[in-house]
Amino acid sequence: MSDGTISWRQLWDETAALHGRPQARWLCEEASGAFGDEFRDVLQRPATERQVAHLDAMLARLLAGEPLQYVLGHWSFRTLDLLVDRRVLIPRPETELVVGAAIEHARALLGRFPDRPLPMADLGTGSGAIGLSLAAELPRGAVEVWLTDVSADALDVARANAAGLGIAGAGVRFGEGSWFAALPSELVGALALVVSNPPYIAHDDPRVEPSVRGWEPAAALFAGPDGLADVRTIAAAAATWLRPNGRLVVEVGSGQGAEAAAILSAAGLGEVEVLPDLAGHDRIATAVRD
Ligand SMILES: C[S@@+](CC[C@H](N)C(=O)[O-])C[C@H]1O[C@@H](n2cnc3c(N)ncnc32)[C@H](O)[C@@H]1O
Repeated sequence: MSDGTISWRQLWDETAALHGRPQARWLCEEASGAFGDEFRDVLQRPATERQVAHLDAMLARLLAGEPLQYVLGHWSFRTLDLLVDRRVLIPRPETELVVGAAIEHARALLGRFPDRPLPMADLGTGSGAIGLSLAAELPRGAVEVWLTDVSADALDVARANAAGLGIAGAGVRFGEGSWFAALPSELVGALALVVSNPPYIAHDDPRVEPSVRGWEPAAALFAGPDGLADVRTIAAAAATWLRPNGRLVVEVGSGQGAEAAAILSAAGLGEVEVLPDLAGHDRIATAVRD
């Protein structure tokens, strides 16, 4: 507890000794309510008791093993600052690349198809990271993006994040249910783009870090004995829901590229491609409805 004399400079130094400087900075910014340049301005000022109590509470949660992103309550993803908590997967940097690829395809599809808004879907949206990025980064009014999830809790988080988009969120729609079943039947054969980052970890994968297994929703992570159960389900229905020349973009796990490509081909999709992430690992599987 502060007696009103400890400065933010001292608190930052003390927190950095335990958690490193960048992480300590994020925590102190959150507790002080002063971000970026504003935090520099408060460095010499004393923290209030309430602010120190907030910092202490966050440090206790970190000590219990909770991921930093949940402790902070928000995390940045491309152009967005997303609310995140235990109801949703923490959005990952590799998914930012998947969105980059999806946005390139979306721009090409906007050039190919004249109808506006052009319908697209983000299946298994979680925090809304993928679908809301499409809505925020593509030209205003050009797309209608459906955000779906089987988890009502996750959709509540995605809705809250959509509200933060302002006018760019006007073309966002929500559907609750399993994969394509969350969408209205009018979209059968009409979607220009389907993007998904489905669960793709095998149930017994020993490489999953304890903080991931212990804190993130299991339904967002695991998909059968080989991790590809949900990719199979999505691929099997994709040709029904995509329009001719519509595109599917799916995030896959490192080492799953060849198997994912075989699944997309077997589902009758064409132009199947697997692209790596910055570390050279399989990450994006994409295909087109002929
Ligand atoms: C790997 S997370 C991805 C979350 C978010 N799209 C992202 O990239 O950060 C997978 C998401 O799929 C959802 N999910 C799992 N099974 C599903 C199903 N059968 N139908 C729809 N969504 C499902 C989970 O609730 C979770 O939000």
